[in-house]
Amino acid sequence: MKRIGILTAGGDTPALNATINGAVERANQHNIEVYGFLRGYAGLVEATIPHLRLNPLFTSIPELDPCSGGTILGSSRTYVDRNSDALPEIQWKLEKLGIEGLICIGGDGTINGMQPISEFIPCVLAPKTIDNDLGLNYLDEANEYTQETNSAGETHTILNPSRARIRREEIINYATPGYATAVYVVAQSIQRIRTTAESHRRIVIIEVMGRQSGYIALGSAYGQPDLILIPEQPLNLDRLERRVRELYELQNHVVIVAGEGVVGEDGQPLGDLAPGLDGNIKYNGAAEALKIILERRIDADFIRTVRRHEPTKSAIFTRKVGHTQRGGRPILFDRFHATQLGGNAVDLLLDRQSNSISTLQWSKEHGFTLSSVDANKLRDQWGEIHPRLVHSSMYDDERYCVSDFGIEYLRPIFSNAIGHDDVEHLRQDIFNRRNLADRYQSVNVDISKRIRRLPLE
Ligand code: F6P
Repeated sequence: MKRIGILTAGGDTPALNATINGAVERANQHNIEVYGFLRGYAGLVEATIPHLRLNPLFTSIPELDPCSGGTILGSSRTYVDRNSDALPEIQWKLEKLGIEGLICIGGDGTINGMQPISEFIPCVLAPKTIDNDLGLNYLDEANEYTQETNSAGETHTILNPSRARIRREEIINYATPGYATAVYVVAQSIQRIRTTAESHRRIVIIEVMGRQSGYIALGSAYGQPDLILIPEQPLNLDRLERRVRELYELQNHVVIVAGEGVVGEDGQPLGDLAPGLDGNIKYNGAAEALKIILERRIDADFIRTVRRHEPTKSAIFTRKVGHTQRGGRPILFDRFHATQLGGNAVDLLLDRQSNSISTLQWSKEHGFTLSSVDANKLRDQWGEIHPRLVHSSMYDDERYCVSDFGIEYLRPIFSNAIGHDDVEHLRQDIFNRRNLADRYQSVNVDISKRIRRLPLE
């Protein structure tokens, strides 16, 4: 291959530039030109297909900094599917540009966009998502989805897992770039909110991202919340209320972490749902909904026994960690493995693989290693890709905390996740006096000066 393309699609993560960098560095070694396409699939469908050269003379452009969050290529949740009218034109434009392979950095929506394109050009996915839900708990998991029709005639696809236990070595794509940084932000937020809840004798519900998947909530255990609620386990409200009361009496404050997709006893999400552009569901308001439930159950008299003269109304409050989970500098784990996964994606293209995923595996013997999986292995028998759910053996739903196996799962990711340079960055950059005087220099400004379009100017 002489020239390949690369794009970033879906919600951003802190490690996207690191993945692009890994791919470009590997391409430099093979004298392959890399064209970056802007704003994910939205750029491919544009008539002029805006793009830039990421390695003129096989040297990476200086804007490509693996330590900076976001993506210099921009991202969007627009994606193409097999019925899209834009496909023949995309094929023509990619041919016109001499693109012989495409790397798509993204999650499940990005795979859906990549699949029809892989029918005319080799495509490989380099994974990313803070949700850590791209992969399988074991190879055959996608075949364990079944469909059920309820009394209203609606059909639902549900997972009927055959396995009560799994081994870490079996997990396909052990961790996705972006996850470790998101957990780092969440763990810090919990520790910060904890001391204020403790001082003011409050009950706080901290909502974290992850949609249907509770990995970020699970990893939040590093911040030592009192209770972790994940979307995979319907809430037992009586048990939860009992635990909250016990903890409030004991320590005069409670810290609860709730995944944004957390569901009630009826299996329905507590918050609001809205369809997203990329086929994913958007969640909103789980923590607020849980607050209302707890306020109804935990009476003012009980709160007063602990809070005395303070108003009972403000005793329970919510905080969303929100998009800070997705932004900013990636920590070492994400930077390193994202770079490796990007480089591996180039190797997979050179190996003539297509519609496959560059993956990160883990074993006790070898630690983290690179591999690949056919993207169709993630599809159920109806062709749908489901988010990887936290396996039941990773979570203790009686005690609302991470289980022993969950701890085993998390340890390889987080044991050395923060590098010396991350600490040094904190020491030197946050209160750098230049920050006071200099305006923020957006990479978008520099990148826009490099953009080319079809027909080539
Ligand atoms: O999938 C990544 C994610 O950050 C989810 O955790 C979250 O629900 C969603 O994206 C938020 O999407 P948006 O960028 O549209 O607010």
